[in-house]
Amino acid sequence: MTGKEDLFTPVHKGLRAMLYDLSSRLQTNDFADRDATAKLAIDLENDFAAAQSAGCILCAFAFHAEEEEAVVFPSSARAAQSLVSELIQDHHGLTRRETEIGRSMHELVQQPSSEARIAAGIRVNQLVNELIVAYLAHMNREETELVPVMREHFSDGEQAAMRGAIIAKFPREQLFALLGWMLPALNVSELSDLLGSLKGAAPPPLLKAVSDLCGSRVEPARWAEVRLRVGI
Ligand SMILES: [Fe+2]
Ligand SMILES: [Fe+2]
Repeated sequence: MTGKEDLFTPVHKGLRAMLYDLSSRLQTNDFADRDATAKLAIDLENDFAAAQSAGCILCAFAFHAEEEEAVVFPSSARAAQSLVSELIQDHHGLTRRETEIGRSMHELVQQPSSEARIAAGIRVNQLVNELIVAYLAHMNREETELVPVMREHFSDGEQAAMRGAIIAKFPREQLFALLGWMLPALNVSELSDLLGSLKGAAPPPLLKAVSDLCGSRVEPARWAEVRLRVGI
């Protein structure tokens, strides 16, 4: 029996939106502009001293890998050991890239001259482009190879329980920071399924908080269609 659950693709859509946005901001940033560059550095890393901050882009990537390794991979490794060990190796490589990007950006903002920041900015762009290539390939592999394995070996209910365990561990502020990227990245059917399941099971304040977030982040026509379909 093969189910329909997919623990990876919805959150990956949010992460892809983050990667595309980061790429767009980096390649258009004026590194001579100290204030704009400092703002970009904060959004990327949110300072080494507070690297667990909710909106931090590099932190979101790190949390995602940690949750996969803590909740999903231990179960799936029994069915696909070599695939899972390769995906964990990918995570280590992605972490090394993310650390180097954070360090490079940290050094960049310390540069006193515009010329030095511009030169360092070219390098940061290249590092992020390399991260994006590796990250997109990794997520594709999880979706094309691991999702079918999960469907074959775990029921929809078992996978939904794994998702519940991940959500329960997430601090609320970080969860909503990630949802702020994920919700507008979903299509109308995915968003309707998600809101429909919340409507049936979640406490009303949580449904309201997610609905409010959709109202502010999802493209208005798509959100109107979701509300119609779900009846909220
Ligand atoms: Fe992963
Ligand atoms: Fe992933």
